[in-house]
Amino acid sequence: MTRNAAQRSRFLAGRTALVTGGTRGIGRAIAEALLLEGASVAICGRTVSGSAAAAGELTRLTGGDVAGFAADISKPEETSALFGTLDRQWDGLDILVNNAGLGVFRPAGEITVEEWQSVIGLNLSGPFYCSREALPLMEKRGGGHIIQIGSLAGKNAFATGTAYNASKFGLSGFSEALMLDVRYRNIRVSEIMPGSVDTDFSPRSGRAEWKIAPEDVAQVVIDLLCMPSRTLVSRVEMRPSKPKKA
Ligand SMILES: NC(=O)c1ccc[n+]([C@@H]2O[C@H](COP(=O)([O-])OP(=O)(O)OC[C@H]3O[C@@H](n4cnc5c(N)ncnc54)[C@H](OP(=O)(O)O)[C@@H]3O)[C@@H](O)[C@H]2O)c1
Repeated sequence: MTRNAAQRSRFLAGRTALVTGGTRGIGRAIAEALLLEGASVAICGRTVSGSAAAAGELTRLTGGDVAGFAADISKPEETSALFGTLDRQWDGLDILVNNAGLGVFRPAGEITVEEWQSVIGLNLSGPFYCSREALPLMEKRGGGHIIQIGSLAGKNAFATGTAYNASKFGLSGFSEALMLDVRYRNIRVSEIMPGSVDTDFSPRSGRAEWKIAPEDVAQVVIDLLCMPSRTLVSRVEMRPSKPKKA
């Protein structure tokens, strides 16, 4: 995907965006990239202190318009309150990045009901709660773009992955059906499916230089938003060029 010089120049000025789980990792890199392109950005995490600290750091780094909110995206009432606040502030929303997620990796027989519910609640139900709140706000703006941060775990199952695989396979199905539902309302839905990304997401595999950088996922988000409105990139797979050999 290519962009000309004019498109690269703060092409999101005047647009509003919410990045769920923007306090660190991939979400934070996406928030930074959106700010550098001129968007007004809201991020959320589970705590007031974490969200405020990340927003402060992003302001310092980019000089952009960013606000941090505490909202547990796995809870529909907290999600609804967050979107109410954003709508009062912005009168609509242009971009939603459903990024917040967590992983629990243990054999199926060992995973608890609470762990299962926490993974499905955040990774699958969260994007549903956010997307349904976002649709009327995007319609106020004449359209919008919902970007789901899925995973290659949404097409490749692995041992210990029951809950995580189920959540990301489910997210893929949800995203595609949502895309078909809203495409004629000028709302685009895209899913990015990364392989291993260099964040603190998985303490077991740890940080490593061979992994995808969070900034590279952010670059794909920007590329998707640049695409002319006649074309919808509905799914992108990305993987480390040279993963560590087992
Ligand atoms: N890292 C990878 O290898 C990889 C690969 C493919 C896909 N992904 C996907 O990419 C997304 C981001 O992963 P990451 O690596 O950036 O993870 P991360 O570094 O662990 O960050 C997770 C983010 O989600 C937020 N969060 C956690 N629970 C939340 C909740 N209940 N409500 C709202 N926000 C919540 C966290 O904020 P607080 O802690 O401040 O609440 C944090 O900002 C996830 O959906 C993940 O499945 C990751």
